[in-house]
Amino acid sequence: MKLGVIPGDGIGVEVTAEALRVLDVVVPGVEKVEYDLGAARYRRTGEILPDSVLHEVRGHDAILLGAIGDPSVPPGVLERDLLLRLRFELDHYVNLRPAKLYPGVRTPLTGEPEIDFVVYREGTEGPYTGNGGVLRRGTPNEVATEVSVNTAFGVERVVRAAFERARSRPRKRLTLVHKTNVLRHAGGVWQRIVNEVAAEFPDVTVDYNHVDAVMIHLVTHPERYDVIVTDNLFGDIVTDLAGAICGGIGLAASANVNPERLFPSMFEPVHGSAPDIAGQDKADPTAAVLSVALLLEHLGETAAAARIEAAVRADLAARDPENPGGTREIGERLATAVA
Ligand code: IPM
Ligand code: MN
Repeated sequence: MKLGVIPGDGIGVEVTAEALRVLDVVVPGVEKVEYDLGAARYRRTGEILPDSVLHEVRGHDAILLGAIGDPSVPPGVLERDLLLRLRFELDHYVNLRPAKLYPGVRTPLTGEPEIDFVVYREGTEGPYTGNGGVLRRGTPNEVATEVSVNTAFGVERVVRAAFERARSRPRKRLTLVHKTNVLRHAGGVWQRIVNEVAAEFPDVTVDYNHVDAVMIHLVTHPERYDVIVTDNLFGDIVTDLAGAICGGIGLAASANVNPERLFPSMFEPVHGSAPDIAGQDKADPTAAVLSVALLLEHLGETAAAARIEAAVRADLAARDPENPGGTREIGERLATAVA
């Protein structure tokens, strides 16, 4: 297994070190190549993602990414030209984000809700393509557009992947999330394709929720979701709330997947670089560790992935929520537990 590692900025560096510590125990001897990408390189050289590096990164079996973004760089520059560029160039059309409330983890919701769903967020289209522009900039007549791109090809492939996942889960339930009452063109193609693909999956129960209503249901009845499929921007928003109700984005893992394996998939915690707590051994590395579990699952190392998930589950159940331990301490605990 050849792994490309992009620790990135801020706490990305710290949590990636712990994720690799755990990986080295469950699958010893993985060949790793670390890439110096992110704010430091940009400040030093002006480079964000040189083509030569992108070319090299393509040759790996998978990529582990920490976090990207730093206050010393204008907001959006690294996010777009590094993180989003990787997702687009490596055709990561499935942005897979599991939402699971583990026993013992504190949720801001009342009661003890059962939360166990996965979001299939489209990763290469929607309003993220940079398809838009500004007319008459700076004038009172300025017009800014950000066009959401939804191709039948792009929608169908992520919808199909989501149906396949739903079929493999006990509840076999798929919810399309969109805003079809307002966004009738984009929403129309999503709804039509879901209906068409549904005919091939008669065992999967399908429904539809408007994205604004999902913000309510996730807080009041999160147990109703099993597999959610949605576009790039709605998926971004839905998965932040999903992270919050499952104990915070310090626990939320994600996978940017190219299911055909034409390109390496990329695994990263949902959280960002958190410059305010960087370098203080405060960040929870659990999301990064769970991202390694997703990586191993993707590469067919199912048993190793299950060992990591079991270790995390046990650790979360045993943690003092007031005092979970520092970045390194949690990493060491998990590395010991998976041994
Ligand atoms: C995420 C992040 C990114 C996104 C940003 C940093 C571009 O919020 O991974 O969810 O919007 O996809
Ligand atoms: Mn996000």
